[in-house]
Amino acid sequence: MTETFRWKATEAELKQAANTLRNGEVVAFPTETVYGLGADARNEAAVAKIFKAKGRPADNPLIVHVHDKSQIQQYVTDIPAKAEVLINTFMPGPLTVILPVNDTIATNVTAGLSTVGIRIPDHPIARRIMEECRLPLAAPSANKSGKPSPTTADHVYHDLNGKIAGILDGGATGVGVESTVIDMTREIPIILRPGGVTQEEIEQAIGKVDISDSARVNSHPKAPGMKYNHYEPNAPLYMIEGDHNFFQEQIQREQQLGNKVGILVSDELSSLLKADESYACGSISDLKEIAKHLYYGLRFFDGTDVDIIFAQPYIRKGMGQAIMNRLDKAATGYIRQ
Ligand code: TXA
Ligand code: MG
Repeated sequence: MTETFRWKATEAELKQAANTLRNGEVVAFPTETVYGLGADARNEAAVAKIFKAKGRPADNPLIVHVHDKSQIQQYVTDIPAKAEVLINTFMPGPLTVILPVNDTIATNVTAGLSTVGIRIPDHPIARRIMEECRLPLAAPSANKSGKPSPTTADHVYHDLNGKIAGILDGGATGVGVESTVIDMTREIPIILRPGGVTQEEIEQAIGKVDISDSARVNSHPKAPGMKYNHYEPNAPLYMIEGDHNFFQEQIQREQQLGNKVGILVSDELSSLLKADESYACGSISDLKEIAKHLYYGLRFFDGTDVDIIFAQPYIRKGMGQAIMNRLDKAATGYIRQ
């Protein structure tokens, strides 16, 4: 494939993108979390193009995006009562529920598992494209495997130009980290990936849920996708745990070794530190803002000549759970005071 279309998401271009999907090609589109790379979830050959374009391992399943709640039952064999509550409370929105799959979905979508992740995105362009093509769309994040998920059409273009049919440009996404993935096939549901809907919000709706070790800290893989490198910028990233004086000392130590240092921090910490490159993600008092700019920040350093990136940790509560999950996976290690 030589040319990747960049559609502006006018009505005519949305129709063109929908036709492209119906013809078994892959198209990137914005959702409220990150950009997704979509294909007809019932078409094995179309889905194979997603794995190829991303360089994604075949044993990492994709989630299926549908337009409305009534469609979910077309693709699963059971919707447990608690799943029903989550669907009614949070969809459309940044939540993916894992349910037992039926045989309508191509087997490469689920990587041969007996379950499938279903999500209803809350973004006008995602919703229009699904309405127009009338297909369930298998769609992972539209990045090259291992890189941070794309929050702008430029990020998608950078990673996948020439490998996919087209990109629908809807500007920057809102949530900035991916959907929360929760396995609803268990007696006690388990969060496999923290994301746009927090554990606290979920527990308010359905009571206690578990969170997998791999989602809480960077340890054993549980969700198939958790065992691969993820969200990694080109330069190694380290988490700096300590006060701002300690943080500044680490920067200076690297600089004395001749290294250029980038820092990925809150607005507050940014104003206290001096480095070669700095990306401030937002105020420490607004974790949603930090989440929104996190991937943009990780990618920002790939456009600089820094040799090493230092980032600050956040509280592991609310949106902080999703932020720290991504930073832990992006990081090579921690440097502690
Ligand atoms: O916000 C999002 O969820 C974005 C947008 C595009 O919708 N999509 C996304 O997809 O992040 P992806 O493929 O990058 O991440 C989906 C995660 C992976 O970690 C995958 O392993 C897990 O969900 N997953 C998918 N199906 C699963 C299943 N049946 N059982 C367990 N984990 C599953
Ligand atoms: Mg992804």
